[in-house]
Formats: sequence, structure tokens, C-alpha cells
Amino acid sequence: MRLIITKNYEELSKVAANELASIVKEKPNAVLGLATGGSPIGMYKELIKMNKEGKIDFSDITTVNLDEYVGLSGDHDQSYRYFMNANLFNHININKNKTFVPNGLAENIEEECRRYDAKIQDLGGTDVQLLGVGNNGHIAFNEPDANLVAGTHLTSLTENTIESNARFFDSKAEVPTTALTMGLGEIMKSKRIIVIASGEGKAEAVKAMLNGKISTDMPASMLQMHRDVIVIIDEAAAELLNK
Ligand code: F6R
Repeated sequence: MRLIITKNYEELSKVAANELASIVKEKPNAVLGLATGGSPIGMYKELIKMNKEGKIDFSDITTVNLDEYVGLSGDHDQSYRYFMNANLFNHININKNKTFVPNGLAENIEEECRRYDAKIQDLGGTDVQLLGVGNNGHIAFNEPDANLVAGTHLTSLTENTIESNARFFDSKAEVPTTALTMGLGEIMKSKRIIVIASGEGKAEAVKAMLNGKISTDMPASMLQMHRDVIVIIDEAAAELLNK
């Protein structure tokens, strides 16, 4: 794993945006695996700026997102489809028909999971997967557990994740308790992985991800087994390394 430690969130966002931009320049029809949450917002702002300045072209790019809450439509302002439109897709020259997010309103959840995996396979897999890390070490919504699932699946969010995501909703009671998420197998198949984490709340998970034992109780530790991972973190998230 290649580790880059930046001064702060702003610098992290610029470094991460440059990494992604270089992949897009190298392969203008790349398939980008994208994430939502607080971590990538600054990076998406940088990518929008680069796109407006003509430095990066998304016209041939395809994207697949990691996850979506069950029960929220794409119009709901807390759905991950809405997040992606609002924070990136509405502001860049991407063809929205080539942006994919699991359907949290699917009548048949199992069918939707198989459809999503087949879609990723049809696209030839992801050239890069962007990941945030939960402060409990989850990646996508693969929560710490005795078992992990390879493909896209329905999952229950842990109390910790519900609490942490409540900051985006009016109240904790409104946070959905289940989600569709890409599985660890699909994530590990990505050709490259970029992980971003900012703030002291992530320090323990970052330490376990980089230096801890590989365990399903710390899903991020699985990334130690991938051959091409760049971890970009700020000083606060790096606080417990070497301690
Ligand atoms: C988002 C996702 C989650 C987040 C993680 C960190 O699509 O899959 O795993 O990356 O919960 O969230 P933030 O960035 O809000 O701290």
C-alpha cells in the first residue's frame, strides 16, 4: 500500500483529485468506482474545477457507486444517487446514463444485487475504486462481522454507522437501517484502489487498515491483500501511526 500523508483535508482533496484525474487522462473511457459521504466532497469539488477549466474530460467515463440506502428514491436528498448528482454529476460533462448506483427501491432486492454485479462485469470491472473508511473500519457498507460477502448484497447498518450518518439527516430515526452495498470481492477486483480518510475520528481505523491483522472485524484490513492501493490521509487521520 502506498501511503500519502497530507497536511489537511484541502490538500488531501487536491492530491486525491489529481490521482483520479491522471487515471482519466490515461484512459478516457475508464470505469470509475465512486463513493459518497463526507470524505470525497472536497475531491469532487476539485474534479469539477478541473473539468470547468478543461483539464479533464468525463464525456467517455462510466461510473459505478459503492452503495445505496434501501427505501430512498434517487430524488430523496439523502439518497446516494442524489448525492452523486448534487456533488459531482450535475457539474461535469458526464453522460448520466453511464453513471450507476444500486436501486434502493428495487422490488426484488436479490435480483437488483445480481443485476448490479452483472453490470460491473459487463463494463469490464472498475479501473479504479475510490473508498472512504468508516470509523469502525467498514468499507462501502461492509460492516465488521464474522463473515464478509463477495458480491453486491443487502446489509444491515451497525448502530455506529447509523449514528455517524445521522449528521446528514434531520434525526437519527430517519437514517435507513439497511443498504445495498458492493461486496468486498467486487471491491478487491478493481484494478486500483484509492482510499481517503480525514480527521482524528478515522485514526484508529487507519492504523488497523495499514498495520493491523487482516480480519473480517476490520473490513478495511482486507485492502492489505490488494496489489495497487494508494491511501491518502491527512495528519489527523495519521495520528496513531507509529504509536
Ligand atoms: C460511502 C461509503 C462509506 C463511507 C464511509 C466514510 O459510499 O461507502 O463506506 O465511505 O462511511 O464516510 P465519511 O466519508 O462520511 O466519513
